[in-house]
Amino acid sequence: MCGIVGYMGRHQALPILIDGLKRLEYRGYDSAGIAIVDDGRIILEKTEGKISELEAHLAGMKCPGVAGIAHTRWATHGEPNKKNAHPHIDCTGTLAVAHNGIIENYQILKKRLQDKGHRFITDTDTEVIAHLVEDHYTGALEDAVRKAAKQLEGTYGIVVLSTKEPDKIVGVRNGSPLVVGVADDEYFLASDVSAILKHTRQVIYLDDREMAIIEPTGFKTMTIDAIAVDKAIHEVDWDLDMIEKGGFPHFMLKEIFEQPETIRNAMRGRLVHATGEAKLGGLQEVLPTLREFNRLVLLGCGTSWHAALIGEYIIEEYARVPVEVEYASEFRYRNPIIDRGTVTVAISQSGETIDTLEAMREAKRKGSRTLGVCNVVGSTIARESGDGVYIHAGPEIGVASTKAFTSQITVLSLFALLLGRMRGMSASQGQEIIQALQEIPGQVQRILDKNDQIYEIAQAYCHHSNFLYLGRGSNFPVALEGALKLKEISYVHAEGYPAAEMKHGPIALIDENMPVVVICPKDAAYKKILGNIAEVKARKGRLIVIANEDDTDASDAADHVIKIPKTLDMLYPVLAVVPLQLLAYHIAVLRGCNVDQPRNLAKSVTVE
Ligand code: AGP
Repeated sequence: MCGIVGYMGRHQALPILIDGLKRLEYRGYDSAGIAIVDDGRIILEKTEGKISELEAHLAGMKCPGVAGIAHTRWATHGEPNKKNAHPHIDCTGTLAVAHNGIIENYQILKKRLQDKGHRFITDTDTEVIAHLVEDHYTGALEDAVRKAAKQLEGTYGIVVLSTKEPDKIVGVRNGSPLVVGVADDEYFLASDVSAILKHTRQVIYLDDREMAIIEPTGFKTMTIDAIAVDKAIHEVDWDLDMIEKGGFPHFMLKEIFEQPETIRNAMRGRLVHATGEAKLGGLQEVLPTLREFNRLVLLGCGTSWHAALIGEYIIEEYARVPVEVEYASEFRYRNPIIDRGTVTVAISQSGETIDTLEAMREAKRKGSRTLGVCNVVGSTIARESGDGVYIHAGPEIGVASTKAFTSQITVLSLFALLLGRMRGMSASQGQEIIQALQEIPGQVQRILDKNDQIYEIAQAYCHHSNFLYLGRGSNFPVALEGALKLKEISYVHAEGYPAAEMKHGPIALIDENMPVVVICPKDAAYKKILGNIAEVKARKGRLIVIANEDDTDASDAADHVIKIPKTLDMLYPVLAVVPLQLLAYHIAVLRGCNVDQPRNLAKSVTVE
């Protein structure tokens, strides 16, 4: 997944493009480039590595021009290097293209174009777009882009400029996000709003097979069948400092510390204490279906899949409806059994993860009512799911998801409360859950106040190269999430397991060199997990225990213990994950890793 920006206006394009790229760097950061139209030529500059490399390369260079496109890359086809960096040009060097997504039929198109004499210079799928537009060009860039787009199979967000029509930039999307930014006599195209928020809050979200033409005097939107579409202009409610670090060394740490507020935001205006109910505005239309349906399928990838697993425990416990959790990437190709009695929920922070989007489309194709649980407003999954709930965690820039995870669990708890009160749950039980939910933000703050203690524990374990995480019940997925956080930002091998499953294999890994993180609050499984702690201790495993403030048994057995407040059994995941987020963060920093932009990863994966 990559980040693209386009600018057409009255200011010098270069600083606007570079600033936009920096805000999209979390989407991909292995190479970058710009293309600016100036006096009948294209200034094309590209570098390998982060945006800072491109900036250093451009320092002192004159790149005049008020129209340009730019790209930051997460390589899919062709190694991350200067040659394969975007933008790509056609044979004449008068047309440049930047692309986010994957062109699946590029080899066939490339062969056809080579047979027509086109010369290719990169190993990428994207370069075929430049030559295809060139091949179709007869005087109107938008027509050439449209015809080219109709030949492309796969996913794309594309921006194109040409010296032949220097006052025009064309954007087109299918599967990958593309927004249009509208300001006074200047217009933007970008993969997401964070790239243009500094300049405007007025944005248009393009849908699949739609395109936009931005010119100095305005913009046009149409389908790739050349049918004009009148698109709504949305006002973005995020502001710039929400996407700045706010004095923290990393976005990830800032976002971990934002959780008391973001969890409050996920609940704001959605709890009705008097009747012990949850009110979710985005589901009002679908309430009759939520009263009747007979099966719930939760879809997600990565951390969102872990949130879905926790959702299964909470919804089955509180609402007594059967829930299945699916890896979206497996679900979409498994020909799942879905019928009209099934409600399918697509859980995605970015709302752009292609596997989750396509899995939701597959469920819809099979007659399921689909809902979305997303963070990014106006994202594709949010718009296509029909009904759903925003988690209101604000922009999540750190590639490792943290605040979105706790807000996803919070929203799934509200969903369980909504479904439960429609069924057998009493008002008093609903009020008890609401009471406990309202205490969570303060309780998370108490855990964040232990940051220094958790840093010391990280110092004791940052040299280890394997970790095991154990939990029972709804804390088993928390063990998976703790292991994922450590893996993705510190590159240390870690596995999460249901604690009872340990005896069936992983226990063989345990010796005095194996740190074992055990999540063991005093919930229904407490007595059982004390047994698992004893099994680890007997094999000299190094025990890091997440336990309640009044715990003694587990703490006495542990080498290190992190205490968390008491809450309802089903809500412990929101508390227990916070120390695991901090532990992974500090170990990664101590190991000198780039926490916000871990190697080989991207914030949301819009390619298969
Ligand atoms: C989590 O830290 C990772 N960034 C990744 O696993 C992520 O959760 C996954 O790609 C799903 O993203 P989404 O929630 O935006 O769909």
